[in-house]
Amino acid sequence: MKTQVAIIGAGPSGLLLGQLLAKQGIDNVIIERASGEYILGRIRAGVLEQGMTDLLREAGVGERMDREGQIHTGVELAFNNKRVQIELEKLTGGSTVMVYGQTEVTRDLMEARQKAGLTTYYESSNVALHDVKTDTPYVTFEQNGEQHRLDCDYIAGCDGFHGVSRQTIPESSRKEFERVYPFGWLGVLSDTPPVNHELIYCKTDRGFAMTSMRSATRSRYYLQVPLTDKVEDWSDEDFWTELKRRLPDDVAAKLVTGPSIEKSIAPLRSFVCEPMQYGNLFLVGDAAHIVPPTGAKGLNLAASDVATLNKVMKRVYKDGDKDCISQYSDICLRRVWHGERFSWWMTSMLHDFGQGDVHDTDAATYEKFMSSELNFYTDTEAGRRIIAMQYVGLPYEDLS
Ligand code: FAD
Ligand code: DHB
Repeated sequence: MKTQVAIIGAGPSGLLLGQLLAKQGIDNVIIERASGEYILGRIRAGVLEQGMTDLLREAGVGERMDREGQIHTGVELAFNNKRVQIELEKLTGGSTVMVYGQTEVTRDLMEARQKAGLTTYYESSNVALHDVKTDTPYVTFEQNGEQHRLDCDYIAGCDGFHGVSRQTIPESSRKEFERVYPFGWLGVLSDTPPVNHELIYCKTDRGFAMTSMRSATRSRYYLQVPLTDKVEDWSDEDFWTELKRRLPDDVAAKLVTGPSIEKSIAPLRSFVCEPMQYGNLFLVGDAAHIVPPTGAKGLNLAASDVATLNKVMKRVYKDGDKDCISQYSDICLRRVWHGERFSWWMTSMLHDFGQGDVHDTDAATYEKFMSSELNFYTDTEAGRRIIAMQYVGLPYEDLS
């Protein structure tokens, strides 16, 4: 079997890249470890930057998003029983974000891929990448007990943090940067009306909480929890009780509770692998970088990597210019590090870091620094604008 671009992973990165490449006549095959159903069962991101929504439209999958997604012109930060509005649209001169779940983005992309008759191997095992430094790389994998070999020109490693692509790069040729946080986010999805028309990020003495949504009748809420907590430790009732305690009083009074339809705990991590390209292998999205979810940057950074790789592939196949390949990693990493810094900063300001030392500072002193940081940025329009500019997303960079 032969294709031009072999894509490892059918998460949002792999599916979006496949769709964009196909639009410009570049043949691609996706190899995915899990089943489509399993992928659609994972509840993850909910906020899309304008750069990503434009890219989804370019890929031909924006129709349902534009019909059912919600444009948000602002977002709120709450602390000390005070609510501060970050007026995204006003402060950025017109930019907004779209609230439309990653599950729905993925569903739209899967349907478009099927409609276009593009090949995806779901439930593949023993996926291995070979000869990625040569002009004849290939991928081997098993499906239904059958051994397959896929020859290609390029490989896009879109297989997430635990995938095989990054591990294919010898340790001596990559550098990894990492910070693991001492807490996780417990998320609940429920068919109840959202408590507020805008998202609220809440800092409290009991830890962080946030309120989000998927539609007018479906809510998504998160609580900061210790890493030792298990999902089974949290009954629905416990979750709602704790959420109410962490919301500003006027918001808590409006909370409508109901049975959870999904409940999961995600650990928080900052991670970057440099460089993001090795020979004819490109790392895309979570395969190369992870951000803590505060600030909603994970999926959006994956989309900007996809946009850059799509431009590189277009120039390679349409103009025969292979030199541009060397630009991929630097262009992606500049935007990735801005997203990493913003997510780390938001996480630091809004979470409770407990009793231990943080950067060689005792927790009480660190908390004073972070509270002052939050007051400083929210008390001034200049500060709120800096938050808004980053929340809506920095511009995508073009190839030179
Ligand atoms: P993924 O979505 O991880 O897709 C990778 C795909 O590769 C998967 O389908 C996987 O099955 C497949 N794969 C893995 N290994 C192999 C292999 N060896 N061979 C073949 N296929 C393989 N971001 C936000 O902005 N907001 C959030 O609230 C948020 N919540 C999150 C919660 C969790 C639990 C996690 C893990 C992430 C969350 N994120 C969030 C981040 C966001 O969901 C990711 O940034 C986004 O999914 C990245 O997409 P991706 O396609 O690069 O990777
Ligand atoms: C959602 C998740 C986030 O991490 C975030 O910052 C905003 C919204 C969500 O799942 O809706």
